[in-house]
Amino acid sequence: MFTTRSLLLVSLIALALGKPMGSNMKLHESREGIPDGFSLRGPALPDRTLKLRIALVQSNVAELERKLMDVSTPSSANYGKHLSKVEVEQLVAPTHDSVDAVNAWLKESDINARPISPTGDWLSFEVPVRKANELFDADFSVYTHDETGKEAVRTLSYSIPAELQGHLDLVHPAITFPNFKGLRPIFSSQMKTAPQTLTCDVAITPACLQTLYHIPSSKASQPSNRLAVTGYIQQYANEDDLESFLDEFRPDTNSSTTFTTSTIDGGSNPQDPGEAGLEANLDIQYTVGVATGVPVEFVSVGDDVQDGGLEGFLDTVHYVLSESTVPNVMTTSYGQNENTMSRNLANNLCNAYMQLGARGTSVLFASGDGGVAGSQSASCRNFVPTFPSGCPYMTSVGATESIVSETAADFSSGGFSNYFAAPSYQTTAISAYLEKLGNTNSGKFNRTGRGFPDISTQGVRFAIFVGGQLGTVDGTSCSSPTLASIISLLNDRLIAAGKSPLGFLNPFLYSTGASALNDITSGSNPGCNTNGFPAKAGWDPVTGLGTPDFNKLLKAVGL
Ligand SMILES: *[C@@H]1O[C@H](CO)[C@@H](O)[C@H](O)[C@H]1NC(C)=O
Ligand SMILES: *[C@@H]1O[C@H](CO)[C@@H](O)[C@H](O)[C@H]1NC(C)=O
Repeated sequence: MFTTRSLLLVSLIALALGKPMGSNMKLHESREGIPDGFSLRGPALPDRTLKLRIALVQSNVAELERKLMDVSTPSSANYGKHLSKVEVEQLVAPTHDSVDAVNAWLKESDINARPISPTGDWLSFEVPVRKANELFDADFSVYTHDETGKEAVRTLSYSIPAELQGHLDLVHPAITFPNFKGLRPIFSSQMKTAPQTLTCDVAITPACLQTLYHIPSSKASQPSNRLAVTGYIQQYANEDDLESFLDEFRPDTNSSTTFTTSTIDGGSNPQDPGEAGLEANLDIQYTVGVATGVPVEFVSVGDDVQDGGLEGFLDTVHYVLSESTVPNVMTTSYGQNENTMSRNLANNLCNAYMQLGARGTSVLFASGDGGVAGSQSASCRNFVPTFPSGCPYMTSVGATESIVSETAADFSSGGFSNYFAAPSYQTTAISAYLEKLGNTNSGKFNRTGRGFPDISTQGVRFAIFVGGQLGTVDGTSCSSPTLASIISLLNDRLIAAGKSPLGFLNPFLYSTGASALNDITSGSNPGCNTNGFPAKAGWDPVTGLGTPDFNKLLKAVGL
């Protein structure tokens, strides 16, 4: 799929033969026990085939981070000077030493691996369970997901040869359990029948958002200004539904306006009305329908990946990174709880979003719909941060409601990561909030973690068409595409004025951008038998810095 340096090097290396493997194994990753909701069924059959992926350590992530901040901070002389594909790849490609070490080990272990990322830092291969257990001192076993009855083969720990330390980042799937209920659309409720008369207090339409956030209805002019919408788990975007939506809610535009589709992992986008997906339709209708004239691309990720899980996120970001020109905005309304993933995997994916940001993409994700209880969890003692919202190199979008007096939506997930520390752009905002919060929720969240969401938009009672029916949905799933449209329209103006698109938004949002947002100071996000976090003046872990005002944002970006 990708041509890479590591692939070429495989054939060039002289090998040190005869060294017995497994003689000096070092524990690499482990988890404390079987995650809640799973039970051990028994050992996996020795001949059962496992599809494994391994990640090599990336060479210069610290320098990439420095460059990302440099090109994304408005006060920097290099603001907007995004990196090229080659520049980013040179910074993250594994070192020759790492490539050599891993290739030697693959060869010695008689494994045929193929690269699955543009820089060759991810490889995939198939091995029987017996061999996987030997290679990694692992105990791959069958675990059953209690609620769905679905099975997954996982291990609670694995080791790697000492000589691969510092070269091999992680093996997946190993200790990361699938979230069978995860990576699903972030909705707080199913579609409800829309009322007869659609005023903004009963249903949100593009016109309501245009009025509230001063979003222009005029047509964007820049054909290069691509907005990517990602879709997973057989969520298909229906063209007829989009046309009905535009007919009904954007009579001022050409109702045949549509989107392009890219597919990966065997993805598709069938158009049978019965296949129309709530999430995909919502995302497409509030991008094509709000980002007037902006080219929208639907990236449909298929089921060639195991467990419909995080492999989909990995493959999406690698697909986008492999393009010579990246989309200026990418919006995703899927996610899962941070604690279901290994730290190494969370870090690795987060670094991939860093690469996208450095290339100039604004990476947006919905923050989740379980309040402080996270993406889907029902019971919890401590608050559950969601992924990838805890990653400091993307923008997490929460939800508000009510047009007359915007207030936090009570499902809007927010809080503090346990995996990622607060980034420098955010520390002042977090300290100010924690001071106001006092002892509330003390001990239930990590005071040093990256706080999320960063920003929010309306997310309750969005009118959409699905399978020919008009209905309304709630969720941060409504908010991320709405913000994506606003950022895309800003980018359109910036590009038309000969400037760079905004790219990674947070350093801007937390500095010169903050005053262009409507501060939301009421509401909270209950969960885990608490009232959650209260929204307050300034940043808060319910609504972030607030909701966008297009006119003020235009001024803030210098237009
Ligand atoms: C409306 O959009 C469609 C699809 O892009 C295009 O074929 C058609 O010519 C457009 N109609 C008008 C009146 O611009
Ligand atoms: C709290 O967050 C930090 C990162 O800021 C992390 O290193 C630490 O492990 C977290 N603590 C817990 C208990 O998860």
